[in-house]
Amino acid sequence: MARDNSDIFSLSSESLLPAIISIILLAIATCILNKKWLRIRQSDANFDFNENFFVDSTSGEIKQGQREVFIDFIKNWIAQFTSRRINKFSLTVSNPQTCGETIERCVAFVTQRGVKDLTLDFSNPKWNENDLDDKHALFQLPTHVYQLGSLLKSLKLYSCSFDMPDILNFGALKDVSLGWIEVPMNTLKTLLSTCKTIENLSLKRCWNLVDFDLKDIVQLGLKRMVLNKCDTQCIKLDAPNLKFFKYSGDVFTSEICVAPSAGDLVTVSAKTYLNVRHLILKTQMHKYELCGFEFLLNSCPLLEKLTLDISQQVIFKDYRLPYLTDLEKFWQTRRVFAQCLQNTLKMIEIFGSRATNQELRTCCFLMKGKALEQINIKLSNEDGNIEFHRRRAQRLLKAPERSENLQITID
Ligand SMILES: *[C@@H]1O[C@H](CO)[C@@H](O)[C@H](O)[C@H]1NC(C)=O
Repeated sequence: MARDNSDIFSLSSESLLPAIISIILLAIATCILNKKWLRIRQSDANFDFNENFFVDSTSGEIKQGQREVFIDFIKNWIAQFTSRRINKFSLTVSNPQTCGETIERCVAFVTQRGVKDLTLDFSNPKWNENDLDDKHALFQLPTHVYQLGSLLKSLKLYSCSFDMPDILNFGALKDVSLGWIEVPMNTLKTLLSTCKTIENLSLKRCWNLVDFDLKDIVQLGLKRMVLNKCDTQCIKLDAPNLKFFKYSGDVFTSEICVAPSAGDLVTVSAKTYLNVRHLILKTQMHKYELCGFEFLLNSCPLLEKLTLDISQQVIFKDYRLPYLTDLEKFWQTRRVFAQCLQNTLKMIEIFGSRATNQELRTCCFLMKGKALEQINIKLSNEDGNIEFHRRRAQRLLKAPERSENLQITID
């Protein structure tokens, strides 16, 4: 009898365990959601519904259950929310195709309440940033959103496409972020030249932007631009108000367009000038990075401080030089002396230095800077060879380029 019981027990525990765990987890999730729900009702008119806060399981079945709770939660919110105004709304959910109706209802709901700041993120956290194959917009911006017109101040869409020319309805947009979608260059140009109010533009993993040329736009109002791993191959723009520019991706090929020869570099750098006083470069100081490094120096004529944060970076093995040059003699053969080196660059700091040949050569070049007062070098001790690096770095103290007024610290 006892034996039978235990058999039954062990049998049931094995087969039922996953189901029991998922029920418990669902109960916990619902409980958490209820608490959040209370908090949301009390907060002002800003809402952030993010699937990732609720779905944390890796087991397919539990995940599905957690997701259903999340979707139900949104439905309940719509049914019970009474305020007439919603200021800010953000929805993050993957696989939007499977809950399209709820998304449509939810977006319609916030649109009717005059949302000013809308974020829809349908990208999948598992997508690999370095691989664009098979990614496409999984959802379309519901058409009623366009009726918001000048009410909308901020629009962020990830894996969510939009219509042209309807998007031009948003005449008072200030902040635009797009990710994981195709953005044809013409669309971007039309958007920026029509909605002149746009101050912030962020593009992440967007494509069809190979020839990123915004130069024809007069009075481009951009103050802040982030280009993150898009397929841009050259960047041309005239943005007098730009205060912040962050670029991540293949910098060097961008020089193909802006600097077909070193002679052209002078004029180009004057046009693409950035109002940057402090430039922080995360770099490996690999020779493949030199052209990009020089491009940035030439683009920042007001630079006062340069920080080189040396660490391992992705170096593309198939990199091809934008113009003919011998990388070993890169700095010796420069014909252009960046404006910031002539006038403004006072301070250089280097973190994680190993005093490699490339670093020392770069320093010697920068030491020709007419306004340079101070170089602070913090050596890396990751490989336990700090004394070796120090001896190498000390060569800079005796370098012929060093002027009397230049202070160099090494520690
Ligand atoms: C632009 O982006 C910055 C940084 O994210 C933010 O602080 C600022 O409020 C944004 N400006 C507008 C007009 O949205």
